[in-house]
Amino acid sequence: MPVLTLFFFLSFLKICLTLQFCEDFCSPISPEVRFPFGLDGDGCGYPGFNLSCNERGQTILNLPRSGNFIVQSIDYQIQEIRITDPGNCFAERLLHNFSLSGSPFSTELNGAFSFLNCSSNFSISASLPSSARRINCLSNDNFTVVAMPTGLHGYLPPIPSCIVMENMVDVPVFWPRYPEGDSSLIWTTPDCGGCKLNGGTCGFKDAGSLDIGCFDLPSNDRGLPRSAKYGIIIGVGIPALMCIIGLGCYLCGRVRNYSRSHQSSSEVTIALANPPSILIGGLDGPTIESYPKTLLGESRRLPKPNDSTCPICLSEYQPKETLRTIPECNHYFHADCIDEWLKMNPTCPLCRNSPEVSSTATTPSLPSSASSSSLSARR
Ligand SMILES: *[C@@H]1O[C@H](CO)[C@@H](O)[C@H](O)[C@H]1NC(C)=O
Ligand SMILES: *[C@@H]1O[C@H](CO)[C@@H](O)[C@H](O)[C@H]1NC(C)=O
Ligand SMILES: *[C@@H]1O[C@H](CO)[C@@H](O)[C@H](O)[C@H]1NC(C)=O
Ligand SMILES: *[C@@H]1O[C@H](CO)[C@@H](O)[C@H](O)[C@H]1NC(C)=O
Ligand SMILES: *[C@@H]1O[C@H](CO)[C@@H](O)[C@H](O)[C@H]1NC(C)=O
Repeated sequence: MPVLTLFFFLSFLKICLTLQFCEDFCSPISPEVRFPFGLDGDGCGYPGFNLSCNERGQTILNLPRSGNFIVQSIDYQIQEIRITDPGNCFAERLLHNFSLSGSPFSTELNGAFSFLNCSSNFSISASLPSSARRINCLSNDNFTVVAMPTGLHGYLPPIPSCIVMENMVDVPVFWPRYPEGDSSLIWTTPDCGGCKLNGGTCGFKDAGSLDIGCFDLPSNDRGLPRSAKYGIIIGVGIPALMCIIGLGCYLCGRVRNYSRSHQSSSEVTIALANPPSILIGGLDGPTIESYPKTLLGESRRLPKPNDSTCPICLSEYQPKETLRTIPECNHYFHADCIDEWLKMNPTCPLCRNSPEVSSTATTPSLPSSASSSSLSARR
């Protein structure tokens, strides 16, 4: 059952990868196949880059003149494909009909090798240069096949008990790797190495043409147009900023609620005397002190008979209390209350006239409508 699930998952993955990105594979452990390669003529490949799968889940490259090879790995960045012979004897393929002509591949380095067929009791180290190697897959108990780099101009001196099988075989190898297990082929067209290096996806620009392009580059200067970047900044940045502000407000509100609910009732007066307000700078001490004060006598005779309550703290004036009046508008308050107010607001809390600059009567209103309405109700 888990195997079946895995199978369906892999099939699904294969379909998704093929449809979306032209990425495919023959089995989970075989090399990833993507542009410029295509698998089984899926239309994803560049001409000459068709790969196929064999029944054992191996990835197969067909070279037009040489037949099938197993793909061991593909490096899309340096554009190199490592192939091996299905019979595990690459040297045998080299001696037969190995040719890259008709394919888009080449070798980075070719070596001219000589192949010798020597008798089995022949000692390589004693008779041949140290560069000679036994090719195990071609040798057996009765004879030993040796490969060694061909000397200058292909000259090979006669070697006792050996016959030359092939001289000057062009072997696609990275020196000093020997033509035994595998070979590395490279391709130069199409050139997708730079795209891969930058993290992009290489592919056909449009169907029906062989022009290639680099897509889905990660967001750097080459990747996204400026407008798209601004779009992302606006689309993501502003909502994020709003969220942060919203969260900040929420937290502030909670802190404020908390401290408000824990305030004792005796502090309400101070809270009212300091209503939250747009601070535009209050008056300095000497200016406040210059406003006229009135000390109430025992008779509580009020300067204005109808005003018996301080509009700020909403408590009645008591004998021996000190009142202060704001010049120009002639409103009275407890001196303590209006002093605190004027330290933060340069305007009269009732008529909003500024005692300092009476012309600037258009100052911002009290934000707390409740307190302002209760104040004006007592005018
Ligand atoms: C590669 O695949 C394409 C598309 O299926 C096909 O037209 C083309 O003949 C194939 N080439 C080889 C060499 O198999
Ligand atoms: C090349 O040789 C192999 C055997 O080594 C053979 O299977 C293949 O068909 C040959 N390819 C061509 C194009 O002759
Ligand atoms: C090497 O030579 C022997 C005869 O001396 C021959 O039977 C054998 O097939 C040769 N091996 C190869 C790989 O050609
Ligand atoms: C190697 O084998 C040849 C015959 O194949 C024989 O004449 C020669 O004596 C042998 N040499 C050794 C060192 O065994
Ligand atoms: C080697 O040669 C002997 C006879 O000369 C033969 O019986 C034997 O099968 C050969 N071994 C191989 C691996 O060909």
